[in-house]
Amino acid sequence: DGAKLLEGKKVIVTSGGTIERIDPVRYITNDSSGKMGFALAKAAQQMGATVHLIHGHTDSPPPAGIDAEAVQSAEDMYEAVLRHWKDSDLVIKAAAVADYRPAETASSKIKKKGDTMTLELVKTVDILEQLGKSKTNQFLIGFAAETHEVEAFAKDKLVRKNCDLIVANDVTAEGAGFRSDTNIVQVYDAGGIVEQMPVMSKDEVARRLLTIAARRMNGEAN
Ligand code: PMT
Repeated sequence: DGAKLLEGKKVIVTSGGTIERIDPVRYITNDSSGKMGFALAKAAQQMGATVHLIHGHTDSPPPAGIDAEAVQSAEDMYEAVLRHWKDSDLVIKAAAVADYRPAETASSKIKKKGDTMTLELVKTVDILEQLGKSKTNQFLIGFAAETHEVEAFAKDKLVRKNCDLIVANDVTAEGAGFRSDTNIVQVYDAGGIVEQMPVMSKDEVARRLLTIAARRMNGEAN
């Protein structure tokens, strides 16, 4: 019945938003609640996988019964993922990772001075891109959070980051993206659209996505 399609597989899921510190009391983050990644971790475990969840800032604690590790910055998330990367079979990057971080993190609270202030930002490590470069047998799934030209940007990320699948979500659509209990996603591989899912719970998106991945990992055509 396909319920245990991921039996014996080691799965890493990332979720939530990274926290990039400005000073001891301030940071940059984003709207990720962690729900999409939590749903993936639960579904993978139900399908028989050994799951390690690596999460940044989330609105609620990770689901009970999941082996979870909390991290803060993109750099911390990268290190945590690397510790598990070599023996993993499937990696799903549902986390919303900051693209930029403050060039410097002040060690004491920055005091108010002039009428304007400028914060210099520098690029963070692109975790997914690094994984794509060092991939051996792992099946790699990225997400693409877009507000416009969803398909074009998603396909670009798929190719650039060397993913096996990319899951595009238009985060401006009602019932999709950040914080909602539902999502609307399109799954692409290098050949084009694999599945266009109508609005459904993040739990159901997770089950369907993992079913596609498991079949491909087991060498079955979709
Ligand atoms: O957590 P929820 O509230 O449930 O919301 C779910 C979600 C909208 C966060 C999720 O569905 C989603 O789209 N996650 C990806 C968010 C994102 O960072 O997208 P992106 O298009 O900026 O990045 C593309 C991919 O590269 C992502 O897999 C991301 O994890 C990865 N990335 C990005 C930047 C970076 N420095 N390192 C990365 O690994």
